[in-house]
Amino acid sequence: MRTNLVVAIDGYSSCGKSTIAKALAKKLGFIYIDSGAMYRAVTLYFLRNQVDVQNEQAIAAALDQIELNFHSRDYQTHITLNGEEVSEEIRQMPVANFVSKVASLKQVRVEMVRQQQHMGAVKNIVMDGRDIGTAVFPDAPVKLFMTADPMVRAQRRFDELRNNGDMHTSLEEVYENLKQRDYADTTRVESPLIQAEDAVVLDNTELTPDEQLEFVFQLIKSKQPRPEETTIE
Ligand code: C5P
Repeated sequence: MRTNLVVAIDGYSSCGKSTIAKALAKKLGFIYIDSGAMYRAVTLYFLRNQVDVQNEQAIAAALDQIELNFHSRDYQTHITLNGEEVSEEIRQMPVANFVSKVASLKQVRVEMVRQQQHMGAVKNIVMDGRDIGTAVFPDAPVKLFMTADPMVRAQRRFDELRNNGDMHTSLEEVYENLKQRDYADTTRVESPLIQAEDAVVLDNTELTPDEQLEFVFQLIKSKQPRPEETTIE
């Protein structure tokens, strides 16, 4: 029986999952895990090493060579790929344009889910992604499914890229990338993005981060913890 608490946050691309997940983890003193960063880091490795995504042996060999680690500083995600800090590079467009392809590969998903389940086995965590409430932690007591207006999402991701020094990518490019990723993520065969039956929908188009945090915090409090589960004060 699980004695730790997992908060699973799924939803479309760039609808603010990580913002709310980080804030929630900070408020609760939980560990935040950005599962998308894991798929992005694997994608970066595949791009750099020109891994043939049609070749199962090449994929298996590549996965054997990849070691991912998270380091948390101020609840910001820092991810290393074989010891190299790649947190910024994985947000750039080359990775964004290829990540949904890599994330659709069964071998990649099996390995990522294995690592994610290991991380959530004993610690209290907030994890965001596409399949957290459906495939990674189907028994999570708190599940959120996030969505927001596509143009609002594109603008947010565009602003983030600009803040990180990308002055070239246009808003249209970001919008197209989001549309393509949403399509690929919801229609793939392996663990497509779908709302878990017991997930609560949060459309944050018109909500501030504080309002969202309050919504989720109240949701967590409203869950009657079983005696063996962690209690949130
Ligand atoms: O969350 P983020 O936008 O960084 O995720 C990047 C991509 O990784 C998604 O578009 C999706 O293709 C993939 N992903 C996934 N399953 C997850 C998290 C991310 O397939 N749990």
